[in-house]
Amino acid sequence: MKKVLVATDKPFAKTASDQIRNLITGAGFECQFLEKYPDQQALIQAMPEVEAVIIRSDIIDKAVLDNAPKLKIVVRAGAGYDNVDLTAATAHNVVVMNTPGQNSNAVAELAFGMMVYQIRNHFNGSSGTELMGKKIGIHAYGNVGKHVARIAKGFGMEVYAFDPFVSKEAIEKDGIVAVSTVEELYSTCQFVSLHIPANDKTKKSINFDLLSKMPVGAMLINTARKEVICEEGLQKILAERKDFSYVSDVAPDCKQALEPFADKCFFSPKKMGAQTAEANINAGVAAAQQIIAFFNHNDVTFKVN
Ligand code: 3PG
Repeated sequence: MKKVLVATDKPFAKTASDQIRNLITGAGFECQFLEKYPDQQALIQAMPEVEAVIIRSDIIDKAVLDNAPKLKIVVRAGAGYDNVDLTAATAHNVVVMNTPGQNSNAVAELAFGMMVYQIRNHFNGSSGTELMGKKIGIHAYGNVGKHVARIAKGFGMEVYAFDPFVSKEAIEKDGIVAVSTVEELYSTCQFVSLHIPANDKTKKSINFDLLSKMPVGAMLINTARKEVICEEGLQKILAERKDFSYVSDVAPDCKQALEPFADKCFFSPKKMGAQTAEANINAGVAAAQQIIAFFNHNDVTFKVN
């Protein structure tokens, strides 16, 4: 019997896990869960008999793959797959997939939760400000960016977007201003919400030069990846501009150095963007279905390697 491992250091909601287990066992496969594991060694040790694995931000690197001789497919229940070594997976003949769009609304909602928390001064009793009438720039108009745009309109914000991979027409048909350069986005918008993936081109790309273009009262909202931020530039802008704030779903590596700017920052203690029951069900069930379709019909839709 084929064995499917659900390896989630940050577990899915029980309703999602139950549905995933039912789907996998209902298709005639064995389903094993490895949750909140103590270290990477625990994941490595769980691999030898496994033919498929569902993960979240769990690390699938060469060491994991070397210990998984039966593994055929890894499905990242989520969007970003920077936690999977695609080159090593391909070398091991392992198919890697993601489940794009399934957790996007949850991530977009968190962006607004953090924005409101920050502009209301961490709910400390002092007068804050409002989102209505302000300009928000969406950096990358993908699945999350589209939900951010929809919610921003509900707040009465003016919505701008930049995405070199999406046509101006496609953005503007959603009633959003498409700007031509990343610099234009940052110099136009008081709020910028990041939705770019972490890859060789984007890592450290959000730097001091870009951030210093932002208007007075600037706020950078990061529900993407900490790696896309140039942390030296972030420290510098926070030191130079008292009006600048940064909210992020997970702390930067330089968190301690940012302590003097605590009132200008918020970092979720655990990555929380996709951590809703709805997103867990959407992404987890999609992952299970993709594994079943792969084994039963050789379906490689959503393959990323
Ligand atoms: C994603 O890339 O889908 C999100 O960052 C969610 O990550 P998580 O599943 O680890 O919460």
